[in-house]
Amino acid sequence: MEVEPTDNKLHPLFHKMNTCRRTAMHALTRRRIIWGVRIACAGMSCMSLLAVWPSDVPNRIQAETSWLYRHGIYNSGQSPTQFTVNTLDPLSSVKGPPTSSFRDNMRSDTKYVTSWGSGGWSNDVIGNMNLIYLGMITDRVPVVPVFLPSHAMMHSYGNDHSPLPFGDVFDLPRLRKAIKKPVLEWRDVKTSNSSAKMDEIGCWNVWESIQYFDPAPRQSFAPWFLKLDISYTKTPFWVKMKPNFEHDRFSSFWALAALAFPRGRNANLVPPLPTKSNVSLGPDEHMLCYDFLYYLAAHQSDEIEQDYSPAWREVGQHMHWTVRLERLANDYIRRTLHVRHHEPIPPFISIHVRHSDFKSWCEKDVPLEECYASLPVIQRRVHEVQDELKEKKGIVASHVIVTSDEKNGTFWRDVHEMGWFGVDHSRTKELYGQWYPILIDAVIQSKGAGFVGTDRSTVSMLSNRRVQSWQDGPVRTVKWGTRGADDH
Ligand SMILES: *[C@@H]1O[C@H](CO)[C@@H](O)[C@H](O)[C@H]1NC(C)=O
Ligand SMILES: *[C@@H]1O[C@H](CO)[C@@H](O)[C@H](O)[C@H]1NC(C)=O
Ligand SMILES: *[C@@H]1O[C@H](CO)[C@@H](O)[C@H](O)[C@H]1NC(C)=O
Repeated sequence: MEVEPTDNKLHPLFHKMNTCRRTAMHALTRRRIIWGVRIACAGMSCMSLLAVWPSDVPNRIQAETSWLYRHGIYNSGQSPTQFTVNTLDPLSSVKGPPTSSFRDNMRSDTKYVTSWGSGGWSNDVIGNMNLIYLGMITDRVPVVPVFLPSHAMMHSYGNDHSPLPFGDVFDLPRLRKAIKKPVLEWRDVKTSNSSAKMDEIGCWNVWESIQYFDPAPRQSFAPWFLKLDISYTKTPFWVKMKPNFEHDRFSSFWALAALAFPRGRNANLVPPLPTKSNVSLGPDEHMLCYDFLYYLAAHQSDEIEQDYSPAWREVGQHMHWTVRLERLANDYIRRTLHVRHHEPIPPFISIHVRHSDFKSWCEKDVPLEECYASLPVIQRRVHEVQDELKEKKGIVASHVIVTSDEKNGTFWRDVHEMGWFGVDHSRTKELYGQWYPILIDAVIQSKGAGFVGTDRSTVSMLSNRRVQSWQDGPVRTVKWGTRGADDH
């Protein structure tokens, strides 16, 4: 039985909090990178603050008000960006080092595409894969935003909300080389520190067309961090793969790509929401932008799980970890398995057990012990993976490393009683920062000779794909929600 079959990847808590987020955005606008605030948002007070959001949209916008038209830069005969540039050198897709306004650094012969994250780290990783793939099919250079803690994560992040640059996690030179395309980060384009200019920009609002409970563009901390003041144009209803079906939110790559070209863009302009400084702008044609690209697929929802997924095949599988992160994770694996520094790491099975906030998906009459898959249920999957490894590749992977957000000591005692290993993160945040427990766990998962994950977790979903693509390893996903959910 599926607890919430139709919205299975983004956590419901996140959706609840999303309405609070815009309140938080206002509070945070004047703050710097250390966001020393905890946003406690009672449902009602947030809802009442929604009233602040502009509801009457001035009808004074013309398509041609975009900055490019005003400055005569944009040539409406769309021709593919000509890369006389070296795709491996990010500086060759911009004019030079980052500038205080991103406009000053964009090449007039190059078109760009960008988007913001707001769904938790793994979901933002998927959003970035989608962004880069969308760049490929629209002949635009993707400009990837920094990772920022999602609103839901802020509670656990204390005072450290440092942004995490994409290029600190993923090996960008390797990615560019593999896909033979330039990929930029926002830090290549704009200096986003206190001296930077607030840039006004028109973007497409996809979020409001794909779901029906939140009548606003998707809120994200990224524009605040990047000092962008956005005027949003709602995308047409048909970007949604299943219009009027509230239990699915996916839109298609090619529907959004159609809006990236002049004819599709101009035919679908509607009055935009003005920026905070009350300027209305149509979707920018030089730096094309969409509010949220997590729910994007070529053919079906949650497509990244599918073997044919173009975003995974063309982009995701080439997003390898940085060498530094890889080394760090190897140190953790050695310590976990008690392997000495110079000795090789034996093949192991990695497990990801997602608990904590997933409990809100458990039905009230199902006790937590029955809702979550028990360790013996997970063990059954581990055995399947071990058997398959032995049979197909002759690999004996007897070591098992468990990664989990579970804090309960009883759980970890039981893990150790199974003869499995847990990763000691007691000093990880202190030594490397708030992001590193999840980063290191993700790298460890991806290095398993085989992997066992948790159903409906995007963390597990990505690790599935990585172990398949990078280790050619068997994977299994444990179902949960009721006793016997994973029986098979
Ligand atoms: C902003 O960043 C740029 C480049 O990263 C740097 O040169 C400049 O000094 C910074 N300004 C402030 C106020 O930190
Ligand atoms: C925003 O601009 C519109 C059109 O110029 C004007 O009618 C409206 O009063 C402005 N709103 C605010 C809050 O300044
Ligand atoms: C830890 O888990 C055990 C077994 O599931 C449970 O009995 C106990 O109440 C939990 N402890 C806490 C502090 O949640």
